[in-house]
Amino acid sequence: MTVYLNGKFVDRGDAVVSVDDRGFVFGDGVYEVTRSRDGVLLEVDRHVRRLERSLAGLDLAYSPADLPAISSRLLRDNGLARGEATVYWQVTRGAASPRTHQFPPVDTPVTVYASASIFTPLHDKRASGVGTILVPDQRWARCDLKTVNLLPNVLAKQKAVAAGMHEAILMRDGVIMEGAATNFFGVIDGVVRTHPTSNYILPGITRAVVLELANELGLAVREEPMFVDDIPRLSESFLTGTTNDVMPVVAIDGRPVGDGRPGPIAGRLYSALIARWRVGD
Ligand code: PDD
Repeated sequence: MTVYLNGKFVDRGDAVVSVDDRGFVFGDGVYEVTRSRDGVLLEVDRHVRRLERSLAGLDLAYSPADLPAISSRLLRDNGLARGEATVYWQVTRGAASPRTHQFPPVDTPVTVYASASIFTPLHDKRASGVGTILVPDQRWARCDLKTVNLLPNVLAKQKAVAAGMHEAILMRDGVIMEGAATNFFGVIDGVVRTHPTSNYILPGITRAVVLELANELGLAVREEPMFVDDIPRLSESFLTGTTNDVMPVVAIDGRPVGDGRPGPIAGRLYSALIARWRVGD
């Protein structure tokens, strides 16, 4: 397996990052997870733009313009130019010693890492729908930046998996925000709803595409928060994300959503998404 690290394509086992790397010491870095099909990166311009935004949010000086070409080579070199894969990108503020909270000297090179992995879409889970649990959102106030500081997300997701569930849904002051690694959608009175973009959610690429597709399909759509108290009113709900596509949610905290089966709107939006990407079954 070949990965990209700081300008070189190297064997994964030879890719070494310093113990002084600020990504390791402080979680001082940003990342993206992109998806490819037959060697083509899906929604790549949007991922590049979001990474630029995250980099700017952390005052990190790096242009991600080369990452799509680097990713194509990683897919080719690792035999992933056919079929489905994910490509991970990470940029940190580089290695600096002694350890200081403030930024290191401006000439400290950033650490840039990219790797490709085979991916199997979660078709079985999509067919059955998934269970979720509600977890308090304990993240900071810049959830719109895709930083590698994922501890609250990690702990929430672990809680869900330990309970035999697929995803944790994060709630803040009684408001449903998003999943630990997905965005959350619900259907109430026939209207597709999801939390508006703000500093408290990640502006998901799949979320944005699904909203566009919902509008194209003529569905009623509102970017408006849903409350935990609204859950009994959901006729269906679903998650969106690079590795989830559109994933029906059939239970929240052990209670069925709607009739407890994957809903028709999730099905239509998933079909529209794979038609756009020409991926899937
Ligand atoms: N997670 N919300 C959060 C908190 C996320 O971490 C993600 C993605 C999403 C969905 O965004 P997108 O549609 O752009 O993938 C929403 C990635 C996949 C991850 O951390 O692995």
